[in-house]
Amino acid sequence: MKINEKHYRAVWMKNRVVYAIDQTLLPFQFKIYESKDYRDSAKLISSMLIRGAGTIGAVAGFAMAQAAHEAPAKNYGKFLATAREEIEKTRPTAYDLWNSTELVYKAALKSKEQAVRKAQEIADQYVLSAKKIGREGERLIEENDGILTHCNAGWLALVDYGSALAPVYMAKRNGKEPFVYVDETRPRNQGASLTAYELKHENVNHSVIVDSAAAYYMAKGEISMVIVGADRIVANGDIANKIGTLDKAVAANYYNIPFYVAAPLSTFDIDSDTGDDIPIEERHKNEVIYCKGQGTTDEVENVRIVSPGSNVLNPAFDITPASLISGIITERGIIKANENDIAILFE
Ligand code: MRU
Repeated sequence: MKINEKHYRAVWMKNRVVYAIDQTLLPFQFKIYESKDYRDSAKLISSMLIRGAGTIGAVAGFAMAQAAHEAPAKNYGKFLATAREEIEKTRPTAYDLWNSTELVYKAALKSKEQAVRKAQEIADQYVLSAKKIGREGERLIEENDGILTHCNAGWLALVDYGSALAPVYMAKRNGKEPFVYVDETRPRNQGASLTAYELKHENVNHSVIVDSAAAYYMAKGEISMVIVGADRIVANGDIANKIGTLDKAVAANYYNIPFYVAAPLSTFDIDSDTGDDIPIEERHKNEVIYCKGQGTTDEVENVRIVSPGSNVLNPAFDITPASLISGIITERGIIKANENDIAILFE
């Protein structure tokens, strides 16, 4: 993605320093954070300075590679194992995190150089996969289609291009002029702050809507398809994605609107059988109690919106059953969300 005419990935590593666009400051401020050691890089994930399945995967790989360089020769193996545990504790739902720690850990057991090479390879692979997802998904989009998306599954979430938004960007580049309905995505508003920011930079026509307006636009016939990303896809085709995805899938099914999930192979957890096996992150109550935004004085501030004294519940993800999914857009083509098609992908 280009910001002020310069191309950026969401995260990258150079000379073992991890560089990350600080997503907690967007859309108000564009700032690059530099992380010099694995603990700090793990914190990028737990603090949500970066987020989105693929970007989490890339940073987890980079952090593992940094750990390999920090490990003392005497305690190399033990240090690596502890670092891996710390990195894997940062967030529980996005499967890409485990995929990356496993791959880079194994490479690190051979040598630190191999760890760095593997981590870079993983980040590059996200970019390649995203481009292919874009090309596959673009075939579904027709001139002037209205596309609903939830949360942010764009270049910020997948190193570059994105998963759910890659087909949109490809369609735009091919002159199709899609229109995107962007769910604001409470409680953190990744739709309003990040997806809207990306779409504006890519000159894609869009409107931000409140989460509860999606079914209204479906009923009016303005939405041709829904495309969302995924944090984990299991063997039977159930998926975990941002809280609020399930109700979009239910509404789309009611109105006979195709509901697609876009994700690279690294998001598939084929050792888990059904959505019941996916750990759902319960996030801090303050995400719901407070809302972050720019005040009239231009200051970015948190304002309280929940009545003091009331309890708050804050699950970060929900499970959409395979039966509500029209297809999964992967770098190897669009497959049905069922055990057979998913097993074939991994043969
Ligand atoms: O709370 P977040 O920002 O970590 O939410 C997760 C997501 O970004 C998504 O669920 C997204 O839609 C899929 S990640 C490519």
